[in-house]
Amino acid sequence: MDLMKKIWAAAQSDKRRIVLPEGNEERNIEAAGKIQELGLAYPILIGGKDEIEAKAKELDVDLSGIEIIDPEKSENLNKYITAFYELRKSKGVTMEKADKIVRDPLYFATMMVKLDDADGMVSGAVHTTGDLLRPGLQIIKTAPGVSVVSSFFIMQVPGSTYGEQGTLIFSDCAVNPNPNEDQLAAIAIATAETAKRLCNMDPKVAMLSFSTMGSADNELVDKVRNATQKAKEMRPDLDIDGELQLDAAIVKKVADQKAPNSKVAGKANVLVFPDLQAGNIGYKLVQRFANAEAIGPICQGFDKPINDLSRGCSSDDIVNVVALTAVQAQNNK
Ligand code: ACO
Repeated sequence: MDLMKKIWAAAQSDKRRIVLPEGNEERNIEAAGKIQELGLAYPILIGGKDEIEAKAKELDVDLSGIEIIDPEKSENLNKYITAFYELRKSKGVTMEKADKIVRDPLYFATMMVKLDDADGMVSGAVHTTGDLLRPGLQIIKTAPGVSVVSSFFIMQVPGSTYGEQGTLIFSDCAVNPNPNEDQLAAIAIATAETAKRLCNMDPKVAMLSFSTMGSADNELVDKVRNATQKAKEMRPDLDIDGELQLDAAIVKKVADQKAPNSKVAGKANVLVFPDLQAGNIGYKLVQRFANAEAIGPICQGFDKPINDLSRGCSSDDIVNVVALTAVQAQNNK
């Protein structure tokens, strides 16, 4: 069974409430109908009820049983405003500002997740990654013991044998512009945990660079080498190795030559990029040139799951990210 099918089955086995703050947008409406029909989650659409219902009718989407919440008419609006004010008053937020901010559907939906009126949130068909991350970072914050929020993509490369028969996890391709050594080590550990818990993989984590095991000498390489060392010290039970060039990470023949003693080289199924320029360009190269399916970016490290979409996403992409978010919510309990 392919990975997404397994994730769908897990989501269906214990349905969670996932809020879609871009509820009046067509792809979100279509996705909500599919999610409901497939029994992947209980979708909640944020937006004006009349507008959403009119669009659903035009799109021939059946929204029966799906909750639609208009922030302006919600009986919980004042509760969310007060809770947001309490959370952010030390950062200079007044009641007046909170009243304005929480009416924004993204902040409203994030407050629903914070106060357990939803189990997770998915947004980004219209808004940018930063628009989603900011309320998440301000309101949900990191899980206990986690220092940094980051993200991953599940890359499914048709016809490839790299990773797990063409399935690999890439990180961080969406959140941290220039992680330091400690943050990079934390990203590697978080992604290994994600690969295990969410994707049921035996993670082999490659810390990518333009150097393999000392072949080049540069401060950029030092960052990756030191991050690898820190990650290994923190989690000796995980197979994390570096620094590795991409070919040494995934191609056995190259690994045998360049890193013969590595447990990861030639077998990597988790690729950790040194910064966001490399990660974002890297996933898009594979997506476009290899015709790969790129599922994500999925966030990791938040105390409760909230996830982003690419603005070019389809309604099917939204369905998949909602299913993943629902499974993250199950794992949270
Ligand atoms: N993990 C945990 N906490 C964080 C992180 C992080 N990675 N980043 C910021 N924070 C915290 C800060 O400590 C701060 O907390 P506080 O307000 O309680 O003190 C809060 O989050 C806000 O921090 P800022 O520095 O004000 O946030 P910033 O404006 O820098 O935004 C953001 C953070 C949105 C993550 C920014 O780094 C960003 O824009 N990243 C790139 C996103 C992007 O454009 N990705 C590429 C496109 S995605 C794609 O192609 C699929």
